[in-house]
Amino acid sequence: MELIEKLNWRYASKAMNGKKVAQDKIDTIIEAASLAPTSSGLQPFEIFVITNPEIKAKIRPIAWNQSVITDCSHLLVFAAWDTYTADRINKMFDLTNSIRGTKNEGWENYRQMLLNSYPQKDAEENFNHAAKQAYIAFSQAIAAAAFEGVDSTPLEGFDPEALDEILNLREKGLRSCVMLPLGYRDTEKDWLVNLTKVRKSKEDLVTLIE
Ligand SMILES: Cc1cc2nc3c(=O)[nH]c(=O)nc-3n(C[C@H](O)[C@H](O)[C@H](O)COP(=O)(O)O)c2cc1C
Repeated sequence: MELIEKLNWRYASKAMNGKKVAQDKIDTIIEAASLAPTSSGLQPFEIFVITNPEIKAKIRPIAWNQSVITDCSHLLVFAAWDTYTADRINKMFDLTNSIRGTKNEGWENYRQMLLNSYPQKDAEENFNHAAKQAYIAFSQAIAAAAFEGVDSTPLEGFDPEALDEILNLREKGLRSCVMLPLGYRDTEKDWLVNLTKVRKSKEDLVTLIE
């Protein structure tokens, strides 16, 4: 299948059948999320992969009781840094230096520039910036899942503070942004499965400046 065909196959599943997704497919989806571009390459988020049925059951009521939370195979939670700290920035720059085995003046100047700006900013502003990066990875995970023939539900309908508490995210300096249940569609129970995909026209989406 071509990319567009697979993206048309994908839809936001409203009901899943509980069937397990093979680990190699989950690994590919996580790898795709990890390969997403992020601002300054900081990857300011973590991904929680939940298969524990009790934890899923705890999450469902704080997520509008959406059945995909418990009927999915793997529940991904994307959680962004609560702020940018010098420590976090240095860790990623040091990692780059150690992987590439070089130290580069331009790169070090860039590190200083970030150190002189991000940590001094308001934590809420930093979290919002970090969350945007998490959404890029989230989107890539959605596309990768479709490519693997795995259904998913992008899911923002939950109480983030309650989810942070269930997963102890605040203690880790993280805040939940968005969830992605992965599994297989329940074609009998899903009201959306046979409905035509709706997208606005290209004319309304794209402005050509030639
Ligand atoms: C950030 C985000 C949050 C969403 N939250 C939910 C949600 O909580 N529950 C749900 O059923 N669908 C949710 N959706 C799915 C959208 O409603 C759906 O993607 C949109 O209507 C387009 O339909 P399609 O994905 O089936 O093409 C969310 C989508 C995105 C991108």
